[in-house]
Amino acid sequence: MERAPWGIALIDGEEMLLADAKLALTDEGVARGDGAFETIGVWDGATFRLSDHLDRLDRSLSALALAPPDRAVLMADIDALVEPLGMRDAALRVFVTGSGTRIVTITDQPTRVYPRRLVPQPAPWIRPLGTYGPAGAKAMSYGPNMAATRLAQRAGGDDALLVSLEGLILEGPTFCVLWVCDGAIRTAALDLGIVESLSRRTLLEIAAEEDIAVTEGHYALADLGDASEVLISSAIRPVVAVREVDEHTFGEDTPVRDRLDKVLEDRRRGRV
Ligand SMILES: Cc1ncc(COP(=O)(O)O)c(C=O)c1O
Repeated sequence: MERAPWGIALIDGEEMLLADAKLALTDEGVARGDGAFETIGVWDGATFRLSDHLDRLDRSLSALALAPPDRAVLMADIDALVEPLGMRDAALRVFVTGSGTRIVTITDQPTRVYPRRLVPQPAPWIRPLGTYGPAGAKAMSYGPNMAATRLAQRAGGDDALLVSLEGLILEGPTFCVLWVCDGAIRTAALDLGIVESLSRRTLLEIAAEEDIAVTEGHYALADLGDASEVLISSAIRPVVAVREVDEHTFGEDTPVRDRLDKVLEDRRRGRV
């Protein structure tokens, strides 16, 4: 029987149904959440910024003092999963564990209800670049991020806005955060130790081309008091405007979101 093009995993190159895929309990990825990963958007059958994602994976592994995978071998895995997709959208995930296990999966993109209300949550595990080895790494140990989402939901929100020990805006547990003040974009600087989001990078490139000013900096939560739009994104999300953060409320009118989202979508689908 011909297989469906998604719901497939390759573990060290061996293909199986994702539903049947298993990792040994002794694998460091399971035992300690040790490893790094990437989630890559596939749009109309083509990956977006794949080499940038794989470069980030190498940087994350290096930050964790782990060896990078052989790029040619990994690319062969990725091609084997992406080629059968035809023109479909999908989510491609790559994991390299502390035991050196190489995992590549292909699934449908998740259908989500986009968050309307973010609740600030302290993120003491995110520290400035250079202060400790794994700072900024997209490590497999996402427990703290997931807990922040749950705590924000218990506090009546849809997701968390992670805030540093010093009270500075960082990022979401699984998304980048940007906001608009007087028509210009603000976002947390990478030296704070946030994940170097490739959606953020693309949006800042688009902003530069569209003559929208951008400042990357160290901003306290109070800065959102001047914002007209608060935007989130990730590799498998559009640009989403949230309506509330803490006590700040933002309007339905989101011209910067609308402009950025259109160009991002065009770029992801190779239209520009
Ligand atoms: C903590 C964190 N920040 C930001 C992002 C967004 O990164 P990207 O745009 O590369 O998906 C993610 C994505 O998973 C993330 O986990």
